Amino acid sequence: MSRSLFERCYQAGEGITGKTELLARELAVNPPEYYGGLHMTLLEGVKPITRVRTPSGDVRDMLMLGSNSFLNLNFHPRVIEAERRAAEKYGSGAGSPPLYAGTTDLHAELEETLARFCGTESALIFPAGYSGNLGVLSGLLRPGDTVFCDSMNHASLFDGIRLSGAELIPYPHLNMKYLRRVVKPRSMIVSDGVFSMEGSLAPVDELVRIKQENDAFLMIDDAHGFWVMGENGRGTADLFGVRDSVDLHYGTFSKALGSVGGFAAGRKNVIDYLRYYARSTFFSSALPATTAAAVLESIRIVREEPEHLRNLKRNRDFFQAELENRGFNTLGSRSAILPVLVGSEEKLGRFQRMLFEEGIFSNIGTTPAVAASKCRLRLNVMATHSPDQLGRAAEILERCAKQCGVLP
Ligand SMILES: Cc1ncc(COP(=O)(O)O)c(C=O)c1O
Repeated sequence: MSRSLFERCYQAGEGITGKTELLARELAVNPPEYYGGLHMTLLEGVKPITRVRTPSGDVRDMLMLGSNSFLNLNFHPRVIEAERRAAEKYGSGAGSPPLYAGTTDLHAELEETLARFCGTESALIFPAGYSGNLGVLSGLLRPGDTVFCDSMNHASLFDGIRLSGAELIPYPHLNMKYLRRVVKPRSMIVSDGVFSMEGSLAPVDELVRIKQENDAFLMIDDAHGFWVMGENGRGTADLFGVRDSVDLHYGTFSKALGSVGGFAAGRKNVIDYLRYYARSTFFSSALPATTAAAVLESIRIVREEPEHLRNLKRNRDFFQAELENRGFNTLGSRSAILPVLVGSEEKLGRFQRMLFEEGIFSNIGTTPAVAASKCRLRLNVMATHSPDQLGRAAEILERCAKQCGVLP
C-alpha cells in the first residue's frame, strides 16, 4: 500500500535538508486533497458560526463543526470576567515553573478543585495536555517497566511511553480479551477514556477488573470525557461506576472547557512524585494565572448551570440520529465526537473540500492516525449549536456525500 505524503517525508533519508526539501517540493507540486482544510485561519473565537479566512484569502462565515470546545464556554460572560480580573491582579504570564515562582493561590485552588472533582487526594496541573502526558509517563516509567496501551490512544501517550524507555505493548483497540491474555503483573495499563478518532469509549470497568487481577496500575486519559460524559460531566470512569478504582486520572482543559492545559489526579504520593519527576512541569513555566482563573470559573459554571451539558447531549444525540438516518456510518460513537466513515484519503479530501465550499468547517482523520481504508471526517458537536443548524448541516453533508460518492 502506498504511503501518504507525510509518512514518506518523515522517513526520507538524506539528512534534515533532504527531508525538509522533499516535503516543500511535494506540497508545492502535489498537495494532498485535504491540505487546504488544514490551513484555515479563524478571525474570531469559536462560536457555532465562526468567521474564517481560507488559504486563498477569502473570508467567510462557517458552521463550526471542528472545535473540541464542546461546551463552548469561551464567550461565557463569567469566564471572560474571571480572566479579566485575574489579568488585572496577576498580569499576563507565570514567568516560572510551578516549584519556583509559578504557583499562585489560583493554581493551588485549581489543583484542589480538580482533586475534589475526580474524588482523589491530589492533583497536578500541566501547561498543556500533550506535554503533561509526556511528563506523567516519562516521570513514572523507566526502562524495564512494561506498559499496555490501546492502539488508538492519543499520540501524547505513545510519545510519553517512548520517552520513558519502558517496554510499549499496544493492544488492539478495545480488545479486552487480548489484553487479559497478554497483560503482565505489576505493569501499567493506559487508555483514553473517549477515543478522539472514533468517539468510542474505553470499557473502564473491564480495565479496572484486569488491573486488579494483575496488580497493575491503571491510567485513564479522559481529555474528551471530562465535563462531557458521566454524572455532571465527571468522566468516562464515572459513567462505568469505577471512578475510585482508577489509579491515575488524566484530563485537559482544552476540550469541553475550551481553554488550555492538562492535569493528573490520583493518590498524594503519586502526584507528589510527579511534581519532581514529570519534567514537563518541573522544567516548564506554569500555566498563566489568567488561564487558571478561566478554568476555575468554567468548572463552576458546569456545576451551577446544568443546561450546558444537557444541550450538548441533546445536540449530539440529534446530530448522530440525523447522520445515521441519512446512511452515514458514525462508527457507533458514544461521545460528542462524531466520525463519518469515508474510506480513502482522496475521497475524504474531496468530500471535505466540498463541505468547506458549502460553509461547513470540519476536520479529518487520516493516516497514520487511522488505517488508510478508514479515513474519516471528524465532526464535533457543541452545546451552543441549534438543532436547526445541525439539521441543515446533515442535509448538506448528505448532498455533498452523494456528489462525491461517499453515499450511493
Ligand atoms: C486523549 C488526549 N490526550 C491528550 C491530548 C492533548 O491535549 P492538548 O490538546 O490539550 O494538548 C489530546 C488532544 O486531543 C487527547 O485527545
